[in-house]
Amino acid sequence: MALLEVENLKVEFPTRKGVLTAVDNVSFSVEQGEILGVVGESGAGKSMTGAAVIGLLEPPGRIGGGQICLDGKRIDNLPPSEMRKVRGRHIGAIFQDPLTSLNPLFTVGEQLVETIRTHLPMSATDAQACHRLAGGSQDPGA
Ligand SMILES: Nc1ncnc2c1ncn2[C@@H]1O[C@H](COP(=O)(O)OP(=O)(O)OP(=O)(O)O)[C@@H](O)[C@H]1O
Ligand SMILES: [Mg+2]
Repeated sequence: MALLEVENLKVEFPTRKGVLTAVDNVSFSVEQGEILGVVGESGAGKSMTGAAVIGLLEPPGRIGGGQICLDGKRIDNLPPSEMRKVRGRHIGAIFQDPLTSLNPLFTVGEQLVETIRTHLPMSATDAQACHRLAGGSQDPGA
């Protein structure tokens, strides 16, 4: 079973002229440690796919169909309070424009360790091991 499974995801925006389909039947899965690159022209739906997966679609944008499973559990239909517990701990995002998301004075590894320790009672050493296990070992500064 893949770590993340997205099946027939649809993202819609209701407008005065009808419902606009921004993401139409997108399916993919990501295994633990796997890196998936998504390429497409501007407006193709990459960001909306990501926003739907982490439960941060801006209303009136909404998931209009399909399902998203993380570690075998559906996360596309969780109430916002439940999704908030999953986000940051089990799934997260670094948005476009990395300078507003990441601090250039610290290594990426240090910032990942900080995020892990914010959510889990873990020593810095354990948190480092944790992000290496998850595939973060390419960062020479960590
Ligand atoms: N607030 C909105 N209202 C209506 N439609 C929207 C809204 N935001 C996004 N969309 C629709 O969603 C589509 C996908 O947008 P998205 O931001 O996911 O594209 P992208 O692939 O991330 O583009 P880029 O490469 O420029 O980041 C857009 O073409 C647009 O039709
Ligand atoms: Mg985008």
